[in-house]
Amino acid sequence: MTVYAKGVVFEGVDFDNPNHWRLEEYVKRGGYAALKKILNEKITQDEVIAEMKTSSLRGRGGAGFPTGLKWSFMPRNFPGQKYLVCNTDEGEPGTFKDLDIIVSNPHALIEGMIIGGYAMGITVGYNYIHGEVFEAYQRFEEALEEARAAGFLGDNILGTDFCFQLHAHHGYGAYICGEETALLESLEGKKGQPRFKPPFPASYGLYGKPTTINNTETFASVPYIIREGGQKFLELGKPNNGGTKLFSVSGHVNRPGNYEIPLGTPFADLLEMCGGMRGGKKLKAVIPGGSSAPVLPADIMMQCTMDYDSIAKAGSMLGSGAVIVMDETVCMVSALERLSYFYHEESCGQCTPCREGTGWLYRIVHRIAHGEGRPEDLDLLASIGDNIAGRTICALGDAAVFPVRGMLKHFRSEFEYMIEHGQSQFAALS
Ligand SMILES: Cc1cc2nc3c(=O)[nH]c(=O)nc-3n(C[C@H](O)[C@H](O)[C@H](O)COP(=O)(O)O)c2cc1C
Ligand code: SF4
Repeated sequence: MTVYAKGVVFEGVDFDNPNHWRLEEYVKRGGYAALKKILNEKITQDEVIAEMKTSSLRGRGGAGFPTGLKWSFMPRNFPGQKYLVCNTDEGEPGTFKDLDIIVSNPHALIEGMIIGGYAMGITVGYNYIHGEVFEAYQRFEEALEEARAAGFLGDNILGTDFCFQLHAHHGYGAYICGEETALLESLEGKKGQPRFKPPFPASYGLYGKPTTINNTETFASVPYIIREGGQKFLELGKPNNGGTKLFSVSGHVNRPGNYEIPLGTPFADLLEMCGGMRGGKKLKAVIPGGSSAPVLPADIMMQCTMDYDSIAKAGSMLGSGAVIVMDETVCMVSALERLSYFYHEESCGQCTPCREGTGWLYRIVHRIAHGEGRPEDLDLLASIGDNIAGRTICALGDAAVFPVRGMLKHFRSEFEYMIEHGQSQFAALS
């Protein structure tokens, strides 16, 4: 996948150079300068965390939780082992940015994790990589070897007494293993099923020890923040939405791909960067933050800027930044049928509302899509959704409900037409 327009994560990367991902090239474009700065200038742990807070970096894994605040939760004087974990599971439909990071700029992630380890007093880290991307995993392993050989990773980093070991873990390959506690279970060698929270990973994480988990893009943004300062990062975006962010744009655009742009960029500008709508068709709707984010119709989306607050105000979520663009030929009933199947298939089955409810959501949307819908089905979908959301161990239950609610809110008439006529009004267009 091609990366267009570059922000802090892909700053200076020359994709035409086949060695762009190697240590030598990373160092040439300022790589590991942030780590050297911390160690040479003896910057304290508190100062690093303060810089992270100033940056207003919000976690890029989906929830947008402030990273500096999360790092401050890690108990500083815990006597035993603590862990740092990177989430490169990336299973949300529409999202493909983290894969590009470990393939095209793995050292940004490695440097970000080493700095995270320093700031939180952690000496061991893991990167959990989605099980279906073996070549990317191998690339990351190679980058780790380079960093170790150069003295950036391992014992006595750059001749100081700071030590940090980092390991790649080839994960399972299930969407649920991206949920942080399921990921920890899987990393421990168990079935990837979410744990009850609390306790949160900061107090009971990997092997029951305090653990901080962040997304790949979150860690890869850290070197820039430390090198250039949190304020500069903040100013790239807008208040409460610091920095640039990667958007994985897919669907009916001329140039799908990863776009790294300032948070706060109008959606209309992003669409233009993608070459506009494919075949000159009209924009119908956008899922702005990965498959679990509620869909937004074109008129609302064209008024939005691409940042956490603007998309939330419009009634959806920026999530992981997966922007799924749909043109006027898309049948929303079919789109929801596909989404609902995914959540039904990926439910880990631990809690009844999710295990049974996702199955019912799928079966009802399926029968509507196949001309067998009943007049009461739309109310039934809403009621099943209400019995799942907020009543489950992890947020996959909510993730299954949000697309249903979004579709019924903005495109209810399409579902009603399908129930009444037994076929889609868009069938002839697609
Ligand atoms: C079902 C489910 C799947 C998730 N998948 C991912 C994922 O693939 N990658 C990711 O970084 N976060 C994923 N998350 C969010 C993580 O639980 C966690 O919040 C995140 O890794 C924290 O990193 P951040 O603070 O840097 O965003 C998922 C959450 C849920 C509920
Ligand atoms: S909400 Fe679904 S995926 Fe999450 S723990 Fe419950 S059954 Fe498993």
